[in-house]
Amino acid sequence: PPRRLPPMGRVLLAKPRGYCAGVDRAVVTVEKALELYGSPVYVRKQIVHNLHVVKTLEAKGAIFVDETDEVPHGATVVFSAHGVAPTVHEEAAVRELRTIDATCPLVTKVHSEARRFAREDYDILLIGHEGHEEVVGTTGQAPDRIHLVDGPEDAAGVKVRDPERVAFLSQTTLSVDETMTTVDALRERFPHLQGPPSDDICYATQNRQVAVKEIAGAVDLVIVVGSRNSSNSVRLVEVALDAGAPAAYLVDDSTEVDLSWFDGVETVGVTSGASVPEELVTGVMAWLAERGFTDVEEVTSADEHLLFALPPELRREMRTRE
Ligand code: F3S
Repeated sequence: PPRRLPPMGRVLLAKPRGYCAGVDRAVVTVEKALELYGSPVYVRKQIVHNLHVVKTLEAKGAIFVDETDEVPHGATVVFSAHGVAPTVHEEAAVRELRTIDATCPLVTKVHSEARRFAREDYDILLIGHEGHEEVVGTTGQAPDRIHLVDGPEDAAGVKVRDPERVAFLSQTTLSVDETMTTVDALRERFPHLQGPPSDDICYATQNRQVAVKEIAGAVDLVIVVGSRNSSNSVRLVEVALDAGAPAAYLVDDSTEVDLSWFDGVETVGVTSGASVPEELVTGVMAWLAERGFTDVEEVTSADEHLLFALPPELRREMRTRE
């Protein structure tokens, strides 16, 4: 039987947590595409960076591929929430694929900023993590103009053509604080540095970081539910530690929670990344309850109501079938 830890442990559950509007839209897009066209529907890259979401959609008939050339000629393909470079659309056109673009509208906004700055002949410093799909897709909007800056230490090394014509953009899922530090370092070097009209770090990333900060100082341990390749989930662990949590761990689900983390722990904080279905959090809560953590308080720092319409190509198709 599970070892009972303290007689009655507390749990502070951060809110907002879990699904953002862009993830919700991307997952529904694949489900609707399966309903409309039947399986298989191909999905380029993980639709969102969550193992369970990918497995669930696979069971419904989605086939995940890494590149467009793995999709059979003429088949249906969904592009993931992280966005794609224009070259990916070109490849798909050559293969005569039916494409449905589930790029989050907030990523699309960064893409258009990148193209605008490039048109205006700026060098663009993209703050983000090397190799992340979103960074690859955004860089593809203006490959000759964009330079990646992966943290404040990278600021010293960037080379631009004209220090007076430099702009920065960022990945949507970074740490708000670290990004500010990086922007400050860049501004030291380039006092004329321009930025996007409004923050590129999205509302969901920001809200989840604020929510975990709110509980971090009052708990002995933070459990973040999310996959390792989920940038915003990994950031939540870092933000929790920075905000004073003595320990913080990332788990895909309750099977990864480790009893050895709980020595002397009386209060646990729980949150989840923007790509995480709530049932996985429920699983972790059940695991905790079985071990005596039954005093649960939800700590709300913001209310979210944003919803994005499904991709237009999908809505058109749904209308013709009504
Ligand atoms: Fe979009 Fe932000 Fe979610 S960019 S996919 S709303 S984490």
